[in-house]
Amino acid sequence: LIEYFPRFYRKIKSTLQRIYYSNLQGVGSNVFFGRDIRIEHPEYVSLGDNVYLNDFCWISIVKHKSENNTPKILKNPSLIIGDRTYIGRFATIACVNKIKIGEDVLISDRVFIGDVSHGYERNDLPIKDQDLMDSGPVEIGSGSWIGIGVSILPNIKIGKNCVIGAGAVVTRDIPDYSTAAGVPAKIIKINRKI
Ligand SMILES: CC(C)(COP(=O)(O)OP(=O)(O)OC[C@H]1O[C@@H](n2cnc3c(N)ncnc32)[C@H](O)[C@@H]1OP(=O)(O)O)[C@@H](O)C(=O)NCCC(=O)NCCS
Repeated sequence: LIEYFPRFYRKIKSTLQRIYYSNLQGVGSNVFFGRDIRIEHPEYVSLGDNVYLNDFCWISIVKHKSENNTPKILKNPSLIIGDRTYIGRFATIACVNKIKIGEDVLISDRVFIGDVSHGYERNDLPIKDQDLMDSGPVEIGSGSWIGIGVSILPNIKIGKNCVIGAGAVVTRDIPDYSTAAGVPAKIIKINRKI
């Protein structure tokens, strides 16, 4: 019984979390919610089957500032995480409009993915008080592996089965089956096709 207790405990915990996140826009079967994860505005977030959200990951639908300086959510944001995708510890996903992560994607620890950035063109305001902007959608193709500590900036499409090397900052699209690394990320090889 003792041997099975931790599993039982985890099961209870994940069931409670499922209830807590029952207002997700969509949630597949067998989703794993790790410790102290945070999902802000789950009503715009869809998780496929067997998605694994590891400890301390933070998924947020971000409010942008409208004309009268009142933060509000854009009309119809959508953050989609496909079946069997794994999100590592301390990963941060900041979505103001559209982020789509495909199926079977491996997102390592401490990855940042965002479609949002701060305005910084006004000199009369600190940047923290300038409007957040929808800076273009982010898409990560199925089967890709995003290395530890990678940042994926707005308006980026990463193709299928790509590898993004540890610590890269992705500033341009990466075509299917490529490995990219560095700051800014450059393609270092085309992965062998079967
Ligand atoms: C990208 C990666 C998969 C490439 O591995 P690989 O195919 O064995 O490539 P190599 O080690 O032969 O490196 C090829 C070149 O890219 C460079 N390179 C490799 N990874 C790099 C990285 N993360 N950043 C910058 N340059 C990198 C190498 O220095 C080498 O350059 P050179 O030809 O001038 O010597 C690997 O280096 C990596 O970053 N893995 C991610 C590890 C990780 O995040 N683990 C988390 C656990 S899930």
